[in-house]
Amino acid sequence: MAETLKKLDELVALCKRRGFIFQSSDIYGGLASCYDYGPLGVELKRNVKNQWWKSVVQMRDDMVGLDCSILMHPMVWKASGHVDKFADLIAECKKCNTRTRVDHLKGAEGEETTHHSHAEVSENNLVSKICPNCGAKGQFTKPMPFKLMFETQMGANAEDSMTLYLRPETAQGIFANFRNVLDTTRIKVPFGIAQMGKSFRNEVTTKAFIFRTREFEQMEIEFFCKPGTDEQWYEHWKEQRLNWYTDLGIRPENLRLRKHEDDELAHYAKGCVDIEYKFPFGQGDWQELEGIANRTDYDLRQHQRGMRSMTKWFEAKRDTLKTPLLGEDEEYQKGPLSYFDDEAKERYIPYVIEPSAGADRGTLAFLVDAYAEEEVRGEKRSVLRFDPRLAPIKVGVFPLVKKEGMPEKAHAIYNDLRKGFPCFYDEKGAVGRRYRRQDEAGTPFCVTVDGQTSEDNTVTVRERDSMDQIRINSDQVVHYLREKLQM
Ligand code: GAP
Repeated sequence: MAETLKKLDELVALCKRRGFIFQSSDIYGGLASCYDYGPLGVELKRNVKNQWWKSVVQMRDDMVGLDCSILMHPMVWKASGHVDKFADLIAECKKCNTRTRVDHLKGAEGEETTHHSHAEVSENNLVSKICPNCGAKGQFTKPMPFKLMFETQMGANAEDSMTLYLRPETAQGIFANFRNVLDTTRIKVPFGIAQMGKSFRNEVTTKAFIFRTREFEQMEIEFFCKPGTDEQWYEHWKEQRLNWYTDLGIRPENLRLRKHEDDELAHYAKGCVDIEYKFPFGQGDWQELEGIANRTDYDLRQHQRGMRSMTKWFEAKRDTLKTPLLGEDEEYQKGPLSYFDDEAKERYIPYVIEPSAGADRGTLAFLVDAYAEEEVRGEKRSVLRFDPRLAPIKVGVFPLVKKEGMPEKAHAIYNDLRKGFPCFYDEKGAVGRRYRRQDEAGTPFCVTVDGQTSEDNTVTVRERDSMDQIRINSDQVVHYLREKLQM
């Protein structure tokens, strides 16, 4: 039975030791809740993002991509509801002044309000709760909202400088471009827009490694559909997104769908389900990887209201939008962010299904799930069994020894292979040690040039999981590995 990771500390140490993830600003003592991806980590995370993009944009006819700026007009966040509502409920411990998210407080008996709650909570509800910092029981202030958006200033002159927000989700950039995409492509509802990129939240609860950080990357889809078909698309995306994780190697028993209770729903959602991963720490803790929400027509409708409130802008755009200024009652159906269905000859504001994933959380789950310490043929080794599509390095290339022309031959193979995907050349130390190092990095294949190569032009190809070795003609190495790696 292979050993898995049981403690978060072990995972953090492993990520650092192998160059996957470092604390940000490490040389200055670190910056809380910010992390950097090292040489292997940057490849892994990019592969996660590329696989997501391939699956939701490249392989579908009903999806297009987008890459918006992080800084947006402040009206975006006013209209979306974030300025007024995007906050966590926190309580301060009267003994040590530490602030904690109310939904993360545990009781004396260990019972926990694990999930974000939007319901009202009073001081009385916290009498049994324990401060995670000093251990005091029931010593909390009245819960208060803590705003999660980071603010920044734009502009050099006092008179024209304005306060902007760092986006807390990529989603709003998609809504703000809904009209642009409709007007510049021939895509028709139902269709979706995908975007991945950085988001920022001044999170209260930290110390969760890359699971919860203040700067993170999201991979989000807003899928626009006709009202009434939203339930069907919600089901479609639940299935698609769950399959994406298992197809890329996450064990199905470590994944589950959890439906949100009504009091957990975000201010915009009609329904929401989380894809959760069973992180193997402590007793085994199910945690959110991705949320799939039915956002209804909330956002597009809100942005229509936002546009209307900026009358000057609206007047200037009137001709290009080909939409007259509308009264309140008509606004809903016929506003500039409505959609005209040519075939049915009807106009409506589309409903939106939103599968919203975290690139960092996904990367963490793929890492944890791939890790194993095991004994194979009497040998102990630790290995990262990444799906080849996610592996940071695809092939290690070694000369058995540093003589008899082996390094030259190995180098030639290496140079051929690296044109297609990331490879690693290594000629230092015993070949067994070199294999172990690649197992620890999760490299699916190693190619070794040895004494026999100069006789019959064959090399060995060793497969990471089975550790099986086969000999193939060195002229066929590129073709053979491309096929195996699906690249
Ligand atoms: N647009 C919807 C939205 O942003 P969310 O549930 O707040 O929904 C979606 O975030 C996903 O983004 C989460 O499932 C998680 O994977 C990721 N995420 C959110 N906050 C995060 C944080 N502080 N650190 C890392 N990932 C985060």
